[in-house]
Formats: sequence, structure tokens, C-alpha cells
Amino acid sequence: MPRAICAKVNPNLARLQTYPFEKLRALFTGVTPPAELKPIRLSIGEPQHPTPGFIRQTLADNLGGLSSYPTTAGSDALRGAIAHWLERRYGLPQVDPATQVIPVNGTREALFAFAQCVIDASRPGAKVLCPNPFYQIYEGATLLAGAEPVFLNNLPENGFGSDFDAIDAATWRDIQLVYVCSPGNPTGRLLTLAEWKRLFELSDRHGFVIAADECYSEIYFDDTAKPIGALEAAWRLGRTDFRNVVMFSSLSKRSNVPGMRSGFVAGDADILREFLRYRTYHGCVMSPSVQAASVVAWNDEAHVEENRRLYRDKFARITPLLAAQLPVEVPEAGFYYWVRTPLPDTEFARRLQAEYNVTVLPGSYLARESGGINPGAGFVRIALVADTHECLEAAGRIIDFCKNL
Ligand SMILES: Cc1ncc(COP(=O)(O)O)c(C=O)c1O
Repeated sequence: MPRAICAKVNPNLARLQTYPFEKLRALFTGVTPPAELKPIRLSIGEPQHPTPGFIRQTLADNLGGLSSYPTTAGSDALRGAIAHWLERRYGLPQVDPATQVIPVNGTREALFAFAQCVIDASRPGAKVLCPNPFYQIYEGATLLAGAEPVFLNNLPENGFGSDFDAIDAATWRDIQLVYVCSPGNPTGRLLTLAEWKRLFELSDRHGFVIAADECYSEIYFDDTAKPIGALEAAWRLGRTDFRNVVMFSSLSKRSNVPGMRSGFVAGDADILREFLRYRTYHGCVMSPSVQAASVVAWNDEAHVEENRRLYRDKFARITPLLAAQLPVEVPEAGFYYWVRTPLPDTEFARRLQAEYNVTVLPGSYLARESGGINPGAGFVRIALVADTHECLEAAGRIIDFCKNL
């Protein structure tokens, strides 16, 4: 149901959903958690491990950059560092930093802007395919680009995967852009090479562009099963020009710098040329100081390994504890449990907040009703972002809460 908005603005703004954290605030209206229990927030996907000292230092050492306007394309040094990182991480023989990489101010703005660049709303029935549950930006970007979202439910019975073959040919003809999220937020699910292959075949047949959101790609637990990137999959399948695919990657989770706003897009050079043109007018450019700090962050893996170790350790300690009361499993990647609740998800979250001062996010807030169901209903998202001590404390409270239900 569209909200009433001021008549002087784009009416599509009325179609934007209330953001999940606002819904959560409304859910907690009138709730007074026990004052003696320190609040623990496991609801928001904000990394809380410390920012590495060398990144902070490089940022501080480069404050001189504030006195000049940066270019939209970013520095050669940054695009070069990103291209080399892509080559190392995904075994790509060569990524051209001049045409196949653009720095962005975090993936959120880029995921939004990309739809504005790609969608042709003058074509009747313009549609965008989104996973469901999903990162909320995909839907807002779609609506403001004048297109309609189509949701593909990620359900436990299909291993939380996206069954692309469930979309009929007529719908595919209208779909101009497909968002995929691997590792998935909130499910942690990774796209397999076979799924990438199927998506590429469909893209060849129907002509849509793929936006591959990979901002959790470095938070994995099994070194022998690293998330396959979209460009890696394309290369392995012989699509050496990365046609129709653009990946989105970020330092926020990898390097614990969510406030630095630094990421990149990489892939199809024809699309990126137009995206760069779009961004020149949009005015999204990265500060030279942030660019300098980003170069050292992309060039270093030791801090990323340590970051993974911290998440791995937390999941290893907390999963067996929670598993006594909830059907939790270590995700394939990312830092969330996506767990079925013994009560309706909103009631679970509200009572956990009210009785134990632990905040988790109801799954139904991260999904939309599609095919008669909300695939997030009956799940909550629990982010293991706090330090180990706090996560253990939260786990103890969640266990007590479930025992007393
Ligand atoms: C799936 C997903 N994509 C993108 C982002 C945006 O991250 P950033 O803008 O910090 O790169 C987030 C942030 O939580 C996310 O969960």
C-alpha cells in the first residue's frame, strides 16, 4: 500500500517500503527491557571488529588529498590495486584496471545507482529480479528506476537457492536486471558454478544484466570452499569478456571499515563505460584520502585472514551452544545465522528484546510476500558482529529465553 507523500516529488517515492530497522523500532514501541541487562544488538549487519591500524594511519597520512577534487574513475593506483586483488582472489589472468573497474563509495550506493543506469523504464513492463529475502536496496533501486520487482523465494526446501527456472519466458522478456547476492544476506548461501552457468545462459537468451552483490565474499569458513565470484564463474565458463555481468565488492566487511565507504564494481567494460558516464553526472566520487587508504587495504590479506579467524572462532563457539535450543548451522559464508523460530518471528524478536534485551531482526522484514508466502516469516537474522564475549553472553540469554518459552 503506497504511503501518502508530498505531491511535489516523484510519486515512486511513495512506493518505498519502511526500512527494516524502522519497522523494528515500531515493533519495540512500549517495550522496556530489563535495565540490569546490558543491551546486545545482533540485528544490524555492521562489522564491529577493530579497523586495522595501518588503514587508519594511511587515511590520516593522506588527509592532504582533501584539498583536491577526485575524478569519478578514481586513481590509477586504486584501480590497479583492485584489478590485482581480483586477479589474486579469483585466479583471473588479467583484469583491465582502465576499463573493467570503477571504485564506488560502498556497494550500497552503487547497487542503487546501477539500476538507475541500466533500467529503460520506457520499455513496457520493465522488471528487475530480486532474491527473496534480500538486501532492501534492490527493491528501492528498482522502484525509483520506474521498474517492478519480481521476487524469487529462497526457501529451506530449495536450500535457500534461487530457482531461476521457476521464472516463465514472458517474465524473463521483461526482466532487464537481475540482482544476485552471493554470499547471500541473510541466508549465507553461495551460488554454485552450475547456478552461475544457468544464469549466464538465461542472460544470453533474454539480454538482461546481472548485478552480483558480493560484499560478504571474504567472510567464509572453509578455505577449500571460498565463494565463487561472478567474474571467476564467467571466466571459468569461457566468458572472458564478462559480458552482461558486473560484480559489487566492498571493504566494509572485509576490512572492518564500514564508515570509510569504499568498494568497487568490476566486469563488462561496455556497461561500466556507461556507468562511469552516469556517475559523472550523479557526482559519486571517492575522496582521495579514502582512495589512498583503500589501496593499502586491497593490497593486504593478513588482516582479512585475522578477521575471518575471529568470525570462525565465534561461530565455532556459539553454534553448538545455540543448537541445543534453535536449529542453527554455521552459514556457508557471511556473519549471519538465518534461523527458524519456535514463535512467529516478530513475536520472537519482541519478546527476546522485552525479556532479555537482545535485539535480532525478524525475517519477515527482510522479505516480501510472493507466491502467497513471505519466505522470511518464521525466521530471524542474528548477526555475530559483536565481540566474542558479548556474543557468548547473547547466546546464553537466547538459550534461557527459548528454554522458558
Ligand atoms: C547484501 C549487502 N549488500 C551490500 C551492502 C552494503 O555494504 P557497503 O555499502 O558497506 O559496501 C550490505 C550491507 O550490509 C549488504 O548486506
